[in-house]
Amino acid sequence: MENTAPLSKVDPAIADIIQAETRRQEHGLELIASENFVSPAVLEASGSVLTNKYAEGYPGKRYYGGCEEVDKAETLAIDRAKQLFGAEAANVQPHSGSQANMAAFMVLMKPGDVMLTLDLNSGGHLTHGSTFNFSGKTYKAVHYGLTRDTETIDFAQVEALAKEHKPRLLIVGASAYPRTLDFPRFKAIADSVGASVLVDMAHIAGLIAAGVHPSPIAHADIVTSTTHKTLRGPRSGMILMKEQYAKAINSAIFPGIQGGPAMHTIAAKAVAYHEALQPAFKAYAQQVVANARALAEGLVGQGLRLCSGGTDNHLMLVDLRSKKLTGKVAEEVLGKAGITVNKNQIPFDPEKPTISSGVRIGTPALTTRGMKEADMASVARFIGRALDHASDDAALSKIHGEVAEFTKAFPLYASRLQKG
Ligand SMILES: Cc1ncc(COP(=O)(O)O)c(C=O)c1O
Repeated sequence: MENTAPLSKVDPAIADIIQAETRRQEHGLELIASENFVSPAVLEASGSVLTNKYAEGYPGKRYYGGCEEVDKAETLAIDRAKQLFGAEAANVQPHSGSQANMAAFMVLMKPGDVMLTLDLNSGGHLTHGSTFNFSGKTYKAVHYGLTRDTETIDFAQVEALAKEHKPRLLIVGASAYPRTLDFPRFKAIADSVGASVLVDMAHIAGLIAAGVHPSPIAHADIVTSTTHKTLRGPRSGMILMKEQYAKAINSAIFPGIQGGPAMHTIAAKAVAYHEALQPAFKAYAQQVVANARALAEGLVGQGLRLCSGGTDNHLMLVDLRSKKLTGKVAEEVLGKAGITVNKNQIPFDPEKPTISSGVRIGTPALTTRGMKEADMASVARFIGRALDHASDDAALSKIHGEVAEFTKAFPLYASRLQKG
């Protein structure tokens, strides 16, 4: 017999949590640079019966029967990913950005090989050779950083380290870098020492898809990404590559490091790629960047310093020292005002990562809600007021109320909210 019992009856505890989280997203200001709000279509595919299907292998070459329909979904996802980014080949099975990187490293390096990557403290990612991560334990990581004066990538250092260490792989990509990445310049340095190039475009994939940030495709052997940040797809990963790497990448993902692909997520990725191929997505990505500039200007108006002096992309790093606050405290203070950000080290930060002197702020999620430059000016004022009342809980609670009122003009998942 068909089971039609809703979640609220089967598991009220989890149903309540989902309701509360929907309310939090609906009534707050989401400024975490790596987050976004997926469309109802992406959510529907994510929550579909495709979650039931085992499909180890690749379209047309599976280890399970009954894959006719999921084969079509994965083929659509691959074709759309290739079209969106102008790539020769794509693997849409990585469960996450980290697994995409792991597979790419397995193809481009042997254990113990040297990789040259952006330092975690300068905006790099854990999977780019942190000693806490498989990448730093398996490979020998050498890190480049930023110049003290411009707080942008120190290309003289990249070049010097490349000459000294002769890396097997040069990684380009960041989790907290507010400026345009100069892919041709990295590629020229890699070529000069015979290194391969991996671009991890996780943060900026949506901007690249829309042509708002230069594309890495022509300058990289392999490009990895998450799909849930500026690209606005489900929580997952992907790999784009030259055809010559396709066979090795496919076997590095399966059977190398993963079993069955998450077919519901692959279908949701196909939907997200389809959405990103529409003209409206280009307008969205342009607005993300315009909003970041407007928010940056507003925050400077609130007496805050921005690392590197501003932003070219979807995010900015805010130095909080003028307000005599740490990133840890600011994250908590802004949280009390209904504004969600994450603490983040600033370049050459004297504080440790768990405290840090800054916060990272991004506009992808608020732009999805339809906010424009004038709204960013309001958001900057909310942030400035909250930081100026850091130890005044009553003032923060008042701002929280105003934030909730402000968000009502930008409905998100309102139809999913239960009344009351
Ligand atoms: C540059 C970069 N690479 C990889 C990842 C890892 O992605 P995931 O969290 O899906 O493993 C992230 C996530 O924050 C990222 O910013």
